[in-house]
Amino acid sequence: MKGLITIRIAIDGPAGAGKSTIAKMIAEKLNILYIDTGAMYRAITYLALQNDIACTDEKALSKLAQESEIMLIRSCEGKQLVVCNDVDITEEIRDPEISNNVSLVARHEGVRKELVKKQQNLARQHDVIMDGRDIGTVVLPDAECKIYLTASLEERASRRYKEIRTKGYRESYEDIKKDLEERDFLDKNRDVAPLRPALDAVVLDTTNLSQEQVVSAILKIYQQKKRGI
Ligand code: DC
Repeated sequence: MKGLITIRIAIDGPAGAGKSTIAKMIAEKLNILYIDTGAMYRAITYLALQNDIACTDEKALSKLAQESEIMLIRSCEGKQLVVCNDVDITEEIRDPEISNNVSLVARHEGVRKELVKKQQNLARQHDVIMDGRDIGTVVLPDAECKIYLTASLEERASRRYKEIRTKGYRESYEDIKKDLEERDFLDKNRDVAPLRPALDAVVLDTTNLSQEQVVSAILKIYQQKKRGI
């Protein structure tokens, strides 16, 4: 729950820039809640595919987002679980089929309105680090610390490739690269809440940085912002 001093750290950036890994590490260091907003869009995409709802059907998708209970829970082993309507879908939402459709679902204003409401409610109740595409611009425009994480397309594809292989999926590097490129394009060019750095965000290119270097750079920025430097 919230302490006396509110902490809101917003991490935005394209797919595969390392947002979730870095945000989890910072959440642990600062003992605050990590909220993976991409997992919420993935959960709605998963439900839509399960229920034969087309990714173009904004009305049905918005209703799904409104009526679904999405919980982001930390397991006893420290794993982040995604539980939707009481079903654990942590692994299912990482399936390439979800990755290939999620940007089509996330482009709808009605879906975003519902999920942003849920995200803002969580930030009212907890100190948070939240990652996504519109956190610094729309969800938490007053966040004390805003970071825009990026990396070259090749580096991001190579990171995703390694991650996906350890999970047993057999997508090729080229397919992953193409998927990231398409998603970046859709996320940056949609009408509602497109992916872009907030005017007051610090842009960090992580192409040649280790995870530890990125974490310490963000913690430094956070301390400076807190002291009003
Ligand atoms: O972070 P991710 O790759 O799991 O996100 C999946 C998709 O969800 C991404 O392609 C765009 C969308 N998304 C969004 O539009 N807004 C957010 N705040 C988070 C994710």
